[in-house]
Amino acid sequence: MEKEKVLFVFGTRPEAIKMIPVIKAFQKQEEVASKVCVTAQHRELLDQVLSFFEVKPDYDLDLMTKGQTLSGLTSRILDSFQRVIDDFEPDYIYVHGDTTTSFVAALTAFYNSIKVCHVEAGLRTFNKWSPYPEEINRQLTGRITDYHFAPTQASAMNLINEGVFEKDIVVTGNTVIDALHLGLEKVRLNKTDQIRVLEEIIDDEKKLVLVTGHRRENFGDGFLSICEALKDIAQDKNIQVIYPVHLNPNVQKPVYEILDGLDNVHLLPPMPYEAFIWLMDKSYLIITDSGGVQEEAPSLGKPVLVMRDTTERPEAVEAGTVILVGTDKEKIVSEATRLLKDVDAYNKMSRTHNPYGDGKAAQKILEFQLDKVK
Ligand code: UD1
Ligand code: UDP
Repeated sequence: MEKEKVLFVFGTRPEAIKMIPVIKAFQKQEEVASKVCVTAQHRELLDQVLSFFEVKPDYDLDLMTKGQTLSGLTSRILDSFQRVIDDFEPDYIYVHGDTTTSFVAALTAFYNSIKVCHVEAGLRTFNKWSPYPEEINRQLTGRITDYHFAPTQASAMNLINEGVFEKDIVVTGNTVIDALHLGLEKVRLNKTDQIRVLEEIIDDEKKLVLVTGHRRENFGDGFLSICEALKDIAQDKNIQVIYPVHLNPNVQKPVYEILDGLDNVHLLPPMPYEAFIWLMDKSYLIITDSGGVQEEAPSLGKPVLVMRDTTERPEAVEAGTVILVGTDKEKIVSEATRLLKDVDAYNKMSRTHNPYGDGKAAQKILEFQLDKVK
């Protein structure tokens, strides 16, 4: 009898990081056949991750264009992904999270009556505009999904409250922790050239503040305010700000205009994953609007200020290792200064805490899938 076929599809850096542990788990077994399709909604950022984890996609749609629009990207994925489905004829499609790739791939699967499996399901802010467009991408993907892999009990409850049957939900932990374990293990065995360059840049006498940002709802005034806040924070000579800048032109422009050339601020290209997790581990404080970084940092014991007004990841906020500061300059500066100066406040936040799982999420996902094909 022919094996059942699973197709993994993703397109951006964070989806790659979080889907690869699942792909690796599937590649170790022989009961189901699996293939990998990348839309390449991201190009350089995606390739960094594929190369580090040594994953070679079976299909690469190579869809990214510079300054792409949501509608343009959506229509290109819909059209191109159909051809992959026609070629491979999968029984199951795995998508991750809340990107345009995830939602449109799920929609295309539905149009072809193929079962959809959603990794990192059930996170919600219930605010249509924040994160934008991700909240709606994730909700719509959830409506189409057959099997939901929820990272936490709270995300599973969101799905149950929306009428999803408990039998179709598995609480797995977040695969970001699986990836972090895989990544740290690889970095310990082999320090890359990029990490050696970072060692040259970093001044061990100074407290390292690591920054990332890319959210659409922060474009414009939000990013201007974030950069002004960082400029203020970097005036303290005991601080070093390291900021790998996302390639989105809406981010690059304000960041380089306001922060380039300042003392104590190092603007860098996006870091390969292994160098970034090494940097997180080295840092004193992290300031970010990233979803994934919010999940990784607590397990490294690093306090995080999140430059967003809402979060679909309340677990670390509730545990006290993450604080939401929005994009208000005064709020970012005051919270950062408090943590940089007040050792008690810092120690309270920097406890190692892991609300997002034990690094065994991928195995749980595989076991569920194998049960389905028996
Ligand atoms: C996308 C996702 C977001 C995710 C983020 C992770 C959507 C709508 N957005 O946002 O959910 O949190 O990725 O980083 O799915 N670019 C490059 N090279 C790259 C990547 C991006 O040049 O490797 C530039 C291009 O000009 C591209 C632009 O960034 O057009 C925006 O990329 P896009 O994927 O549309 O949006 P992100 O803001 O990266
Ligand atoms: N990351 C990386 N290099 C960087 C910045 C982030 O590899 O320069 C990793 C980080 O460890 C995390 C993921 O990228 O796993 C987060 O991606 P991003 O912030 O772009 O997207 P989000 O998680 O907000 O969707």
